[in-house]
Amino acid sequence: MSQSDDLPNARTTWRPRTNLVHGGTVRSSFGETSEAMFLTSGYTYETMEAAERRFRNEEPGFVYSRFSNPTVRMFEERIALLEGAEDARATASGMAAVTAALFCQLQAGDHVLAAKAMFGSCRYIIEELLPRFGVSSTLIDGRDLDAWKKAVQPNTKVFFLETPSNPTLEIIDLRAVAGIAHDAGARLVVDNVFATPILQRPFEFGADVVVYSATKHIDGQGRCLGGVVLSDAAFINDYLSNFLRQTGPSLSPFNAWVLLKSLETVDLRVREHARNGQIVADLLDAHPKIARTLYPGLKSHPQHELAMKQMSMGGNIVAFDVAGGKDEAFRFANALKIIRISNNLGDAKSLLTHPATTTHQRLTPEVRAELGIGDGTLRLSVGLEDPQDLVNDIETALAPL
Ligand SMILES: Cc1ncc(COP(=O)(O)O)c(C=O)c1O
Repeated sequence: MSQSDDLPNARTTWRPRTNLVHGGTVRSSFGETSEAMFLTSGYTYETMEAAERRFRNEEPGFVYSRFSNPTVRMFEERIALLEGAEDARATASGMAAVTAALFCQLQAGDHVLAAKAMFGSCRYIIEELLPRFGVSSTLIDGRDLDAWKKAVQPNTKVFFLETPSNPTLEIIDLRAVAGIAHDAGARLVVDNVFATPILQRPFEFGADVVVYSATKHIDGQGRCLGGVVLSDAAFINDYLSNFLRQTGPSLSPFNAWVLLKSLETVDLRVREHARNGQIVADLLDAHPKIARTLYPGLKSHPQHELAMKQMSMGGNIVAFDVAGGKDEAFRFANALKIIRISNNLGDAKSLLTHPATTTHQRLTPEVRAELGIGDGTLRLSVGLEDPQDLVNDIETALAPL
C-alpha cells in the first residue's frame, strides 16, 4: 500500500455497504481484524538505495506522513469507493479540503463563479481570500440557471456550490449547473456536506470535484475534525496531491482512524438521521408557533421535486423561523432539554444553532436577509435520539411562547 498505489479494492464487485465495512483495508503482518492506527510521522528504509527509489517514486511505499500515511490512505480509499470516485485525499478539516480544492487549480487571472448561499468560511475564501491572490469571483443565486450562464467569463475556471445550502437548504440543479460549467470549460466543485455521500452522489450528476467536512456526518459523533477531496486521478495527480504535499494540511492518523471506523456505520446512521429529520420537519411545519420550515423532504419546500431527484431522502438538517423573532427563538432554544445549542452538525446528538449570531454573523444584515437568514431563523441538525423524545422536547419548549 502506498500513496501512489491504485485503490486495491476499486475493482471489486462489492456493494456500497460492504465497501464501507471492508473497502480499502490493508492488514499488517499481525492480521488484525480492526484497521490499525499508524501513529508515525516518518518511515524507515532498509538501505539508502531504497530511500532514493522511494523518493523517485520508483517503488511503492510511504515516505512521510505529511504526504501520506497507511491509516489515512485506508480512509481515502474507503471513501473513494463509497463515492465512486477514482481517488481521494484527506485533509485536516473541511475548510482545508475546500481551500485545497480551489487553490490547487487556480492562478492569478482566473475567475470563480459560486452560489452565494453557502457556509460563511467558504464564502470568505471565495469572496475575500481568492481576490487577494488575483482570482476574481462572482456570487449569484445558484437556483437561477440563467444567472450561472450570464455570469460566465472567458477566464471562469471553477464553479462552486453547496446543495442543500447552509443554513437555508436551497437546492441547486446539479446536472444543469454541471452542464453549464462544462460548456464554459470550467470544473464544478460541490461541497456535499449537508446531503452526505449516502443521500446524494454529485459525480453521477456531472460534478468534477466533491468536498466534505468529515467532521460532520462522516464522523457523526462530534469527536474530530477532518476533510476530504474526491475527484478523478488526473485532477488529484496533476493539481491536488502536490499542493497538499507542499502546503501540509494533513489529516492526523488518529483522526483518520476515527473517520475510517465511522464509515462502517455511516450508511445506517445517515438514513436514521434522515428518518428523524423528516419527523421533526413534519412537526415544525404544522406547528402554529413556527412561521416557516425549510426541509428538502417537505412538499412545502419550494424545490422539493428537484431535491428528491438529487437526494434519496431529505437529510437531517431543518431550518425554521420561530414566530416573533430573535427573542422568541432564543427563549425556545434556551428551554430545550435534549436538543443542545451548538454550531456543529451531523452529530448523533441533536444540535441547534442561530445562524445570524454564529455561523453567519460575519455577513451584513442585508446579505443575511438576501439569503433568507432572519433574526428568528434556527438551524437544527436532527440527531439519532428517539424521535418521540425530540418531538416532546420541541413541543414543551414551544408551549410557553
Ligand atoms: C457546508 C460546510 N462546508 C464546510 C464546512 C467546514 O468544515 P470544517 O468545520 O470541518 O472545517 C462546514 C462546517 O463547518 C460546512 O457546514
